[in-house]
Amino acid sequence: MTPQHVSPGAAATLPGHPFVAYHGAALQMEDVALSSLAAQHGTPLFVYSKAAMLSALAAYQRGFAGRDAQICYAMKANSSLGVLQVFAQAGCGFDIVSGGELDRVLAAGGQASKVIFSGVGKTRSEMRQALQAGIGCFNVESEAELNVLSEVALSMSLRAPVSIRVNPNVDPKTHPYISTGLKGNKFGVSHEDALRIYRHAGSLSGLRVVGIDCHIGSQITETEPYLDAMDRVLDLVAGIEADGTVLEHIDFGGGLGINYNSDTPPAADVLWTQLLSKLDARGFGKKKLMIEPGRSLVGNAGVCLTEVLYVKPGEQKNFCIIDAAMNDLPRPAMYQAFHAIVPLQHAAGARTQAVYDVVGPVCESGDWIGRDRTLAVQAGDQLAVLSAGAYCMSMASNYNTRGRAAELLVDGSTVHVIRERESAAEQMRHERLVP
Ligand code: LLP
Repeated sequence: MTPQHVSPGAAATLPGHPFVAYHGAALQMEDVALSSLAAQHGTPLFVYSKAAMLSALAAYQRGFAGRDAQICYAMKANSSLGVLQVFAQAGCGFDIVSGGELDRVLAAGGQASKVIFSGVGKTRSEMRQALQAGIGCFNVESEAELNVLSEVALSMSLRAPVSIRVNPNVDPKTHPYISTGLKGNKFGVSHEDALRIYRHAGSLSGLRVVGIDCHIGSQITETEPYLDAMDRVLDLVAGIEADGTVLEHIDFGGGLGINYNSDTPPAADVLWTQLLSKLDARGFGKKKLMIEPGRSLVGNAGVCLTEVLYVKPGEQKNFCIIDAAMNDLPRPAMYQAFHAIVPLQHAAGARTQAVYDVVGPVCESGDWIGRDRTLAVQAGDQLAVLSAGAYCMSMASNYNTRGRAAELLVDGSTVHVIRERESAAEQMRHERLVP
């Protein structure tokens, strides 16, 4: 493919990343030059901005000003302890989906009473662990799970606080793998069955029914699916309460999208102003509200720094081979997801620009991070993969015996190492040779 010559240019803040900007030719997060972090800590390297996380949280807090609301960070998006600590210190609760996640919340200083436990497949031992810790609520996803939870709670002489996840059958207009609120998804109970299942829950002596919950999908960039889902859920709240069960809270889940590639999701405060007026109009404005945002709190707070190992021109495609791979950044391989890729340092002088597939070293054709990207790169250059704060490190694997990357948290001009790079010895620690 034919290379072209371009002159270096400087940009300002990057779309969606208010705390990442070029200062002259160098890309900076808050007050720190990213290339110096790559040089000092090696690559691949995840770097998160504390200010970006807190500013994303502040948008929700503005939206809920004056309301009885609890923000439970959906920690599956990024469950690193240093990240959880930021949200715990800011007063957040947590949405968990496993006993392991509960251990992480407690290790990071989070409060069990502000934890809600979601997921279709909670085990008895996870239920016991969560009851022992005194979590705030179980978001139950089936009748069978209600029965088991009641039994487990009774065996501990406790009553488990529950809300039932209802499936509003609303199309969130997102990738099919991350849409969860449609009929045919494994999540929640159907709208039609909800009233009967609430009655059943009320009859189980190991349970205390406290709320209702829904979550329709992830990376939602439109307001309408939320408004539709709220209408459907409020119809049920009215029916359940008319049937004699008072609900203390309504949990609207998470799912708000971020800007990966000219996406234009509503701002959290704007979305919630609209949702709250609907809630008020339908007479439920005084109810306690819960939400479970994940991606929108951390996605654009993080970048993954990587080095160009080789540039490999080809007849049909040019490849830019980097040291980050699908084990570090699984979203392109899993969802054909787009992550912007930019240089850490605009090169001085004219550079050759070409169109590349940006790929990792893993032995799979699916190991691509970006396709058909116009870049002016050579071996040794450092790049940043943007929007890498959510569902990257938390989904990272050791495929090809690649150690998981290190993670840093930037706070102004201070840099904290929140995860050391993983060695091969650490990966092999739990394995045994046959005697
Ligand atoms: N609550 C429940 C019950 C969920 O299942 C999820 C995400 C959330 C909250 C948080 O949703 P968020 O605000 O982050 O959209 N790995 C995929 C995303 C999977 C989302 C699963 N559930 C990706 O990388 O796009």
